[in-house]
Amino acid sequence: MAKMDPHSYTDIEQGRIVKVELDLNVDFAAKSLVGSATLRLAEAGSGTLDLDTRELTIEGVETVDGTALPWTLHETEGFMGARLSVERETPLDALRVRYRTSPEASALQWLEPQHTEGGEQPYLFSQCQPHHARSMVPVQDSARVRFGYDAKLTLPKALSAVMSAAPGEREEGPTADTAVMHFSMPQPIPAYLLAIAVGNIVSKDLGPRSRVYSEPEILDKAAWEFEGVDAMLLAAEDLFGPYRWDRFDFIVMPPAFPYGGMENPRLTFLTPTLIAGDRSLVNVLAHELAHSWTGNLVTNATMNDFWLNEGFTVWAERRILEKLEGDAAVALSAAIGRHALSQEIARFGEDSPYTALETDLSGVDPDDVYSQVPYEKGCLFVQLVEKTVGRERMDAFVLKYMDTFQFTSLDTAEFEAFFHAEFPELREAIDTDRWIHGTGVPENAPSFHSERLAALRELTAGWEEGRRPDPEDARRWPSEEWQIFLQNLPRPMKHEDCLWLERTFQLNESDNAEILCQWLVIAAASAYEPAYEKLRSFLGHVGRMKYLKPLYTTLHKGEKTKALASELFEAFGDRYHPIARGGLENILRG
Ligand code: BES
Ligand code: ZN
Repeated sequence: MAKMDPHSYTDIEQGRIVKVELDLNVDFAAKSLVGSATLRLAEAGSGTLDLDTRELTIEGVETVDGTALPWTLHETEGFMGARLSVERETPLDALRVRYRTSPEASALQWLEPQHTEGGEQPYLFSQCQPHHARSMVPVQDSARVRFGYDAKLTLPKALSAVMSAAPGEREEGPTADTAVMHFSMPQPIPAYLLAIAVGNIVSKDLGPRSRVYSEPEILDKAAWEFEGVDAMLLAAEDLFGPYRWDRFDFIVMPPAFPYGGMENPRLTFLTPTLIAGDRSLVNVLAHELAHSWTGNLVTNATMNDFWLNEGFTVWAERRILEKLEGDAAVALSAAIGRHALSQEIARFGEDSPYTALETDLSGVDPDDVYSQVPYEKGCLFVQLVEKTVGRERMDAFVLKYMDTFQFTSLDTAEFEAFFHAEFPELREAIDTDRWIHGTGVPENAPSFHSERLAALRELTAGWEEGRRPDPEDARRWPSEEWQIFLQNLPRPMKHEDCLWLERTFQLNESDNAEILCQWLVIAAASAYEPAYEKLRSFLGHVGRMKYLKPLYTTLHKGEKTKALASELFEAFGDRYHPIARGGLENILRG
């Protein structure tokens, strides 16, 4: 078998899926999607076709006219799932798998009504990246393969569904309490961009090409927070060329959503923790929008090349923000990113292979090594290129890169071949090989200067000697400045200082989840009991891994707080997404 992706059983020589047709019943009682996937191949072929599955119950495999085909579901191999081998005795260009998903499907989270905003209806959502699509659909779950898809969903009549696709008709269902909704995705996507959400979902138009979806209880707030989406879209098109996905809609998910955002095409998924009430966290929307070019249009071939998706996207996100908010704001975001990268590298160790841009994740679950390295080191590399060749050549390069590879996937070697042909002088000038294959952050990394950054650093450096910000001033700091300030404060912190910080700035009451989480990490590292109640309510409410991981890690590390970490996970673990739960179990075991 030609091994083309370390995280998939896909063998492209057996055939290539170009279209998927889903017919699924959304069964909340059984916590299962039940139905069939019809897989259409680029051309007719015979012999074995290997598909990825995970936790699926296969009920049968047949031709599109219903003739049964022989199949074998192999042993489950950890995060890889179980290979499904279908035998085609005569040449076939399509086949249908009848199946049901498991209540434990790693991509799916089935929420009880009490874990939604409305509290009355259940909710279902998916998170397929990097290798979880196979727990929702039996498919070639490798980013080397792209397909369009159609879906027919049967769901409870009181609910509504959305997908990473164009919505079609809604009809009466087969029974009085069901409805049927249709979707169609004309542009070819890798499996990790399949997405679904079902719940009490409503929407509001924000511009000619954008609409926000959410539960009704938060729709107005969400619409206000992200009102600038159309301006973002125009700024992005100006930089990266025409938007190729027709519409850019997005949905604000229940708090259990494990990421800040997920770039599902035509329908970005966002955490509700971005709703700060002051539009200070909209960079995540800019980031997911930027993936419409870097990621969704030009896609990493495997998770070894994940930096091609994320490094370019962080760079693109900051270019969009620079256009909308100016360079000062971007310098602060870059500083926050640089700090996160240093922490990450300290965690892995300077020489760890996980600090290189290209990685070798054979046998490694990509969720276990998710880090800021592909994001922030990747972005530093792209910025260094930009700084060296100048903006004009950089922008021309990006347009050509998009044009050359649109709707395809490429690995790091393919990227390097293209890159060296465009910028032959850079290989030596900036030591591209060291950046891509070496560990740590090379000395020629771009650095950022900002007066505000310098002032904040000075303030925090003098903390132990009693230097404090002027409260009146600090209350007016933008969110980025608060993040930098908190990031740089010492921990553990004396309890009297915790008290001063909390009382002076009411940090427990902050509506900004970034600020709240940074503060709670300080409080956890200091075993500062007056913050425990807030810590408990935050960890019981929010499922975003960016917050769960540092909080649980800090609690687990502290002598005095270790037991609290276990107690909270015991209480709330089943509210977290399966991916988040897995990550936290690793932390608490360590
Ligand atoms: N595609 C990622 C989320 C992701 C990565 C999910 C890997 C599963 C596996 C998304 O675009 C992302 O990077 N989200 C960030 C936002 C940020 C960098 C602005 C997040 O969730 O924090
Ligand atoms: Zn991203």
